[in-house]
Parts: sequence; structure tokens; C-alpha cells
Amino acid sequence: MSETVQEKASFIVVANRLPVDRVISEDGEESWRTSPGGLVTALEPVMQNRGGAWIGWHGAADEKVEPFHHDGYDIIPVPLSSLDVERFYEGFSNGTLWPLFHDCIAEPVFHREWWDSFREVNRRFAQAAADHAEQGATVWVQDYQLHLVPKMLREMRPDLRIGFFLHIPFPPPELFARLPWRTELVEGVLGSDLIGFQFPGCVSNFIRMAKRLPGVEGARGRVHLPDGRMVAIKSFPISIDAVGMRNLATSPQVLAEAENLRHELGDPSTILFGVDRLDYSKGLASRVRAIGELFESRELDPEHVVFLQLATPSRERVAEYRALRDEIDLLVGRINSKSTSLARSPIAYRYTSVPRQTLAAMYQIADLMVVTPLRDGMNLVAKEYVACRSRNDSALVLSEFAGAALELKQAYMVNPYDIDGMKATIMQALRESPRVKARKMRAMRKQVFDHDIDLWAGTFLSELEGD
Ligand code: ADP
Ligand code: G6P
Repeated sequence: MSETVQEKASFIVVANRLPVDRVISEDGEESWRTSPGGLVTALEPVMQNRGGAWIGWHGAADEKVEPFHHDGYDIIPVPLSSLDVERFYEGFSNGTLWPLFHDCIAEPVFHREWWDSFREVNRRFAQAAADHAEQGATVWVQDYQLHLVPKMLREMRPDLRIGFFLHIPFPPPELFARLPWRTELVEGVLGSDLIGFQFPGCVSNFIRMAKRLPGVEGARGRVHLPDGRMVAIKSFPISIDAVGMRNLATSPQVLAEAENLRHELGDPSTILFGVDRLDYSKGLASRVRAIGELFESRELDPEHVVFLQLATPSRERVAEYRALRDEIDLLVGRINSKSTSLARSPIAYRYTSVPRQTLAAMYQIADLMVVTPLRDGMNLVAKEYVACRSRNDSALVLSEFAGAALELKQAYMVNPYDIDGMKATIMQALRESPRVKARKMRAMRKQVFDHDIDLWAGTFLSELEGD
């Protein structure tokens, strides 16, 4: 494969995020690191297999970066100014759409100047795709930040095949209808040939919303537009590179790192583990509360049990995220300060992201994985954990409000709003017989290995490309 950047590509992914983030340290040193979040985890292996171009923002403001070749595909950076970051990214994308699409767990904020910026930046992404696409190319637009791109791109380049995948839930019309620009958002995404959602409920929510537009008729899995076009709308639950994850987790380096980690944690007999972006949708506060109460009541014995929780820094300039960070610091500090042992704290909490190898080592030592989002499109962490557990000797506690719950049906399901219910289910999972745990884990592993990221991308793209 050529190492130089191709002028045009026949396959293009357009996402707000590039797979790598440009980081400039305080002493001015520049480097690249893997971008946060499930979108990048899922799409990286797809691009490594398929090649083509990935168009997106490189994570730093007021900087123009030249296209470059990376891991078998081209990276085409789209610049954002500080004002774009404030209004398009932190504002409309993550202050308006993110909470609105996550059942309004936080109050969505509506600002007209954020909307203006959203439109303008979406146009910039559409233009970049139009400039780099070969005649008749396939362009796959990703996620809520780029909701308007399909229509804009179709106007610029009617020859393209345009797909759109929403990584987060699409809310019920009763909530979505609050958005002053609801019509533009629905029309924007209807510029696609195929729209993919994480689970069937999102498909019906979207079709109900689309049918409110004049002249739009919806049937099962498709809508017909007044101009005669037909748009297919289906669910495609996203997944992970399950084999890659298992191989990483069972490599000698990871097994050695796992040993060290367990030792560093004080060789506890039981480790509970959570890992999330620090986001209010992830239900971290109620998880910490539930587990904290179990330590306090001694149902979990802090002499033998540790709760390891990692939180990846995310959207740190958005007010809700800053407040959440303080809330978790306070909660964890309070619980740990009540511990009678000076040597070890019941909760080992770190506000950091870690290399994939370290994450795999953590999955290896975790006896119980706690995944308790208040709302989540899928949740790849749950699938990664399952993929790593080749010994079938552990348990997954999973929120019924994660898309993953529709597939990992044998998990210990919880309602994350119900603290007592969560406490009881965590204890039930810990006390479960090895035989039952193994049966559940085997069934979940089969689901994850049979429905991996290749199947997800292959199904979407063959539907889009009509082969
Ligand atoms: P979201 O996309 O909302 O962040 P997902 O669970 O779908 O949620 O995906 C998160 C991805 O980020 C997973 O691949 C997970 O392994 C990774 N991740 C989350 N927290 C960390 C962390 N602290 N360090 C390294 N990777 C992390
Ligand atoms: C979720 C979203 C992605 C986003 C990621 C990280 O996975 O669906 O679109 O990229 O979170 O969030 P960030 O704001 O850092 O890109």
C-alpha cells in the first residue's frame, strides 16, 4: 500500500474525531495519541482493513495540519478555531445534542449562535468530503456532531453513496421535538442513502420524527421523500475487534502486567472494575455510591476487596463535566476517608486514560465488571471485558439502559437509578456459583465473537453499496 496521501479516495469516513489527537504539552512539545471514545475504538480496525481516508478534527484548536498517512489509510485533518470548539463542539454538539439524545439526563442548552456555528462547521466537513471523494465513492458519516453533513454533501456531490451511523441513542420524538432546529436535523440526515442506529428503538423514534415532515412517508425500515428518493433506516449494533482484544489480553506482556497490577492493588481476593469516559451518562456517581455503601456495611470487606475505577478525562471545559469531576472526587474521598485500613483504600480511583495494553491487563484481573450507564448507545467497555475473559470465571453487571444489554442478555442487569437494586445485584453476582458464572460468560462471549466489528462494518457497507 502506498505511503503517500492519495488525492482522492473511493472510501471515506467522516467523523468529528480523528483516530489520533494532536497534543501540545506545556513545554510546547507536540505528539499524537489515540483519541478517546468508542467511535474511534470501533472504526480504527475498519479503516486498517479497508483503507481509504478518514476526515476529522485533530483535537487542537487554531491549527492547520497537513494530511498524512497512518496505519494503512489517509488522515485528512479539518481545522477548528477556538470559537468553533466553543460553539460547535462544546456548545451545540455536547451542550445541546449530547444531553438531548441521552434522554435529557442533563438539561440541553439552546443557543442560536451555537446552531449557526454547527451549520457552518458541518458545511466545512461536507466540503472536505466532497473534495476528497472519487467519482461514485462511498462516504460514511459518523455521529451526532455531523448530523447535517449528508444533505449538504448530497447537494455538492449527488454521485456519492452516503451512509450515516449514529453512535448514540436517537431520543423519543417527545424529547427531540424540543429542539428549535429539529426539522433541519432530520432533513440533514435524510440526505443519506442509508441511516444506521444502534438498536431498533432508535429506528422507530427516528421514523416517527421523519414522518412529521410534509410529504414524508415511512414504512418498516425505510422512508420515502417527496422528491422520490428512498432512505433505508436500520439498526446495526456496533461492536469491537473481539479476536484482537482477546489476543492482546492473553499476551505474555499483558499477563505479566496483570500480575503486577494485582500486586500493586495489595493482592486483594476480589477486584471490582469500572472504566468510562468521565461523562454524566455513564452513571458513575450512583455506581460509586452503591459500592461505597457496600463497603460501609461490610458486605464488601475492604481487607479483601478493591473497587478499581478509571475515568478518562472528557470535554473538560463543559460545565457539567467539570461539576461531575468534583462530585466524583468528593464521593470517592469521602468513602476512602472512612476506611479503617491505613495501608489500602477500598476505592482505587484514577482520572486518566491508560494504554490499551494496561486496560487489557485490568480486564484480566477484574472479577466483576460494573457497567452502569444511565443511557448509552452501546457501551463497548462491556464487550471488551467479555472478549478478554477467556477463563469464563467472572461476571458482568450491566445497566439495562445500555444498548449492549440487548445483546449481552446473560449479564446481571441493573437499573442504575435504583441504588439498593444495584447493591443487591452486585452481591448476587459476587456470590454466584462458578458454574452459573461460566455458563453466562460463555453465552456472552459467543455473542461478542459472532458479532464483531467486521460483521458490523460489512453488514452496513454491503447494504449501502448494494452488494
Ligand atoms: P464512549 O464511546 O461513550 O466513551 P464506550 O464504552 O462505547 O463509551 O467506548 C469507550 C472506549 O474508550 C472503549 O474502547 C474503552 O476501552 C476506552 N476507554 C474508556 N476509558 C478508558 C481509559 N481510562 N483508558 C483507556 N481507554 C479507555
Ligand atoms: C462518544 C461519541 C463519539 C465521541 C466520543 C468521545 O463515543 O459517540 O462521537 O468521539 O464519545 O468524545 P469526544 O467529545 O472526546 O470526541
